[in-house]
Parts: sequence; structure tokens; C-alpha cells
Amino acid sequence: MRTPRWMPRTAALLCLALTVGACTEKPPGGGPNPPDDGGTTCAPENRNDEIRLGLAPACEGCHLTGNKPFFASLTAFENGLVYDERYVKPGDPDNSLLVQLLVGNAPGSYPQMPLGQRYDELVASGHVTLTTEQVKAWIRELPPPPGRLEAADPKEFTVRRLSAEEMVVSLMDQLGLVLEDFVSTTDPNWRNKAYVVNGGKLFVWPGDWSPGISTEYVSDSRSVERFDALGGGNSLVYRKKDVGFGPSAAQTLVQMSQAWCARAVDKRGNTAVLRYVTLADTSAKNPDAVQKNLRALYLRMLGQPPSEAEAKQLFEQVYLPLEAQSARLGWIGVCASLIRHPLWLTY
Ligand code: HEC
Repeated sequence: MRTPRWMPRTAALLCLALTVGACTEKPPGGGPNPPDDGGTTCAPENRNDEIRLGLAPACEGCHLTGNKPFFASLTAFENGLVYDERYVKPGDPDNSLLVQLLVGNAPGSYPQMPLGQRYDELVASGHVTLTTEQVKAWIRELPPPPGRLEAADPKEFTVRRLSAEEMVVSLMDQLGLVLEDFVSTTDPNWRNKAYVVNGGKLFVWPGDWSPGISTEYVSDSRSVERFDALGGGNSLVYRKKDVGFGPSAAQTLVQMSQAWCARAVDKRGNTAVLRYVTLADTSAKNPDAVQKNLRALYLRMLGQPPSEAEAKQLFEQVYLPLEAQSARLGWIGVCASLIRHPLWLTY
């Protein structure tokens, strides 16, 4: 089967979306901005932004997402940190928690930021160039809050990739699949034992989810390896989830999308993919049904209807060439390509 052509572009788009923080990574010594950054300039927008970009190499590793995403954007920095008096007291650096965190004498459970490493050591080693003194000077003359902090900014939102758990759960649901489609149910007590994976089903499952207390949670270790490759964590082996979306995640998702879409199409009575068509309907015989199903599937997978242009592209570039082989392949291809769409992959 031909791989739908969307993948490279999808991956590129996604990488773009996920590396928006990258422009804050200045080379040690604060070198010039990269010449070609895709139109978004990394030059600081204002005084607060200078500080944000200066601190970022030490902080953004942990504060790009999560419940304290101070470094996701200038707005996040200003809203979440700069103009929150718990952290920054205008004109009073020594009583500002931010400074106390940098020098390592903050009260509370986290005396020091970054965690586990002294900020002045990072300055000394050249990882960051902004000194604590400069941060203090900035707080002494903190700029007044910009007007936009008052109003919600509809342009300001951040996206993240779906976690591996979310991918597995939502994909099963969207495709009308259940555990029983992948694992053997011959043992009446199968739910309480390590899952026995049926061959050739490309099962993907978290290593710490299924029953049992050994590490033998799933009979086929590849199921768990695929989950790892998707970027999933595993609490049993103390592995964190990967918040990026690299080649191995993309490759696994390609395989998984094709295999699972095939299962969904082949599953008897399953209307998840084939809602308005059967495999006997082709674009020649029943064009309206095909178009209707294509749009319905897009809506189901991506949560919004396609534009005319997108529906046309999906039909002409993905469905039609595959339908020439069989309608079954056509729908598997459409289904799989939607799973690799940026709207599917991100949240
Ligand atoms: C290795 C990970 C890590 C790095 C790097 C890091 N932080 Fe944190 N930070 C945390 C964690 C964990 C918490 C506490 C948990 C939470 O509230 O999210 C936290 C909390 C904070 C808080 C809130 C503290 C409070 O008591 O409310 C501030 C402010 C903060 N970090 C600033 C920074 C700054 C500034 C930097 C860079 C100089 C930085 N962090 C670097 C992990 C990190």
C-alpha cells in the first residue's frame, strides 16, 4: 500500500509547532539569532522578553508545558510569572520569590530553580548569560504590565502533541475497536492476566496498564515497545514520557494507523469508518455516498468539518488512487492519513 503523501508535511508542521520554544535557545554567549527562523523572529519583543529569553536555557526544559508553563511564550511569562506578585514584587528584588529561587534560598518545598542545579553555576559555565544581578536590576525597574494582560488574546494558545496514552485510547474509541479485537479471550479470566496478544494485530499498549504484577503485562513485548516508541512513559521502569514527536513516534504511528484502520474497516458491523458506505460503493457507482462518508470520517477523526479544498485533496490524492486497487484500501488510506493530520496529533 502506498503511504499517503501527507506524512512528511504533517511531520514538518508538527515539528514546527513543537519547537516554537527553540528560538529561545541562544548559543552560549548570546550569539546572533538564527537567520532563517521561518518568519518568527527571536529578537526580544520588550524588556520582559529579554529576561525571558535570558532565563529560558535554564528553565524552559521544565516550564514549557505542564501546570507552570512560564516559558511557553512571552504572554505566558508575563501572565504567569512577571505580574504575579507571589513571584515578582515590583521594585523589590530581594523579596521576590523568583530571585530567591535563583539564589537558592526560597522558602517552601522548592528552595532553588532550576531544580538540582545552582543558577550561578549555569552562569559561570556559560549555559546562561543573564546574571542574577541583571534579574534584580530588571525587577527594580519593572515595566508596567502591558495592556493586553487585561484582555484574553485569542491568538495566544499553545498546542502539545497527544500523549501515547491519549493516542491509544482515543484511536480505539474513534475506530470502534476494543481490547478484545487485539487480545485473546479464550481464557475466561483473561482480563486479570497478562494479555495474550493475537498475532499480526499490531497491538500497542502501555507496559504499566494491563493486569498482573510482573513485568509480563502483555505477552508480546513488541506491543509495549511500540508504545514506548510512540513516546509513552512507563512507571515500572521509571521512564518519563517523551513530549517531543520524533521519527520513531512518527514511524510507529504510521504503522499503527494503517493496521488499526484496517481492523476497523474489516470488523463486522463496525460503522466507525464505513458509516455511509459499504465496500461495494465506489466513487463511480455511488459518488454521493463516498463524499458523504469522507466528510463524516474527517469530522469524526478531527472534530471539525473539512474545507472544500481539504476534502478534495483527501479524495483525489488519497482515496481515489487507492480505490483503484480496492475500496477497502481507499478507506484504510483515508482513515490512516487523518490520524497523521496535525489536528489529530495535537491537543
Ligand atoms: C528540572 C526541572 C525544572 C527546571 C529546569 C526549572 N524548574 Fe521551576 N519548577 C520545577 C518544579 C518541579 C516545580 C514545582 C512543581 C510545580 O508547581 O509545577 C517548579 C516550580 C517553579 C516555580 C513556582 C514555585 C512556587 O513555589 O510556586 C517557579 C517560579 C519556577 N519553578 C521558576 C523556575 C525558573 C525561573 C527556572 C529557571 C531558572 C526554573 N523554574 C527551572 C521544575 C523545574
